[in-house]
Amino acid sequence: MTLVTMGPMLKRAQSAGYGIAAFNMIDYNSARSIIEAASDLDAPMIVQVSVKTIRHWGFKPIATWVRMLAEGVDVPVALHLDHCSDVEVIKGCIDAGWTSVMFDGSALPFAENRQKSEAVYKITEAAGVGLEAEIGAIGGVEDDKFVAEDASILADYDECVAFVSNMPNLAVFAPAIGTAHGFYKGKPKIAYDLLKRITATIPIPIALHGGTGLSQDQFDNCIAAGCAKVNISTMHKHQFIEGFIEVRKQKPKLEEPLPFIVGQYTAMKKDVCDMIVAFGSKGKAAHVAGKAA
Ligand code: 13P
Repeated sequence: MTLVTMGPMLKRAQSAGYGIAAFNMIDYNSARSIIEAASDLDAPMIVQVSVKTIRHWGFKPIATWVRMLAEGVDVPVALHLDHCSDVEVIKGCIDAGWTSVMFDGSALPFAENRQKSEAVYKITEAAGVGLEAEIGAIGGVEDDKFVAEDASILADYDECVAFVSNMPNLAVFAPAIGTAHGFYKGKPKIAYDLLKRITATIPIPIALHGGTGLSQDQFDNCIAAGCAKVNISTMHKHQFIEGFIEVRKQKPKLEEPLPFIVGQYTAMKKDVCDMIVAFGSKGKAAHVAGKAA
């Protein structure tokens, strides 16, 4: 299929109570593992890309890989830019064929974040591209941004309402609800009451950041409360590295590189499949496309 925008599929997922996985791709092999896992399980998928990954490979190679892989399968795939505060990178993604982008102004004072998010919203609306925007501070490391897990700041409810009021067509909203990027050091304290209060009044699907290391109960509770996009990055990177190391352990003298790539692919794909099942999106490809009840 051609790449799709994520907004409509997230709305359908939210109203039916399942989550769509959003994996941060690393290279062609990783993008392939993500998209082929979705195809095998007949699931919708969001392939998202960190700014540093774009700076490494360039816009065009990534867009070309993901478009080609998506066109080879029958499930809807969106190409999304993860946390980005640089409007030039956002414009580069739109020009290269990304179907959604995230503007992350969460490090800015509220009024400035709101004003800049609204400016990016005008750009994405004109381009027919989805937008994700964030308030509060999600803990952990994402690209070069670091927020200590215990220094993360929950989104303020009244600010959430004001923040989205001029962006009715926001594809997905990312209020900080107590989760953090990276492997958790302690048990995350998820602000379910805040999440439920937000979804009771704001009709926009919510992004769950910091998916790596959450329990099935935590996924279930967040998805039931309205999180429709579930982000996984750290575990995918871990499988990328461990998949390679495992082959080296088993074949210490091997000089042929392809089995290492296959080892990485297999480790990454298994984790993607496990998360699709965990989020309830297995078999939902037709549902998100509006072709099934
Ligand atoms: P993890 O790295 O904790 O999986 O979080 C991913 C994420 O939220 C990307 O924005």
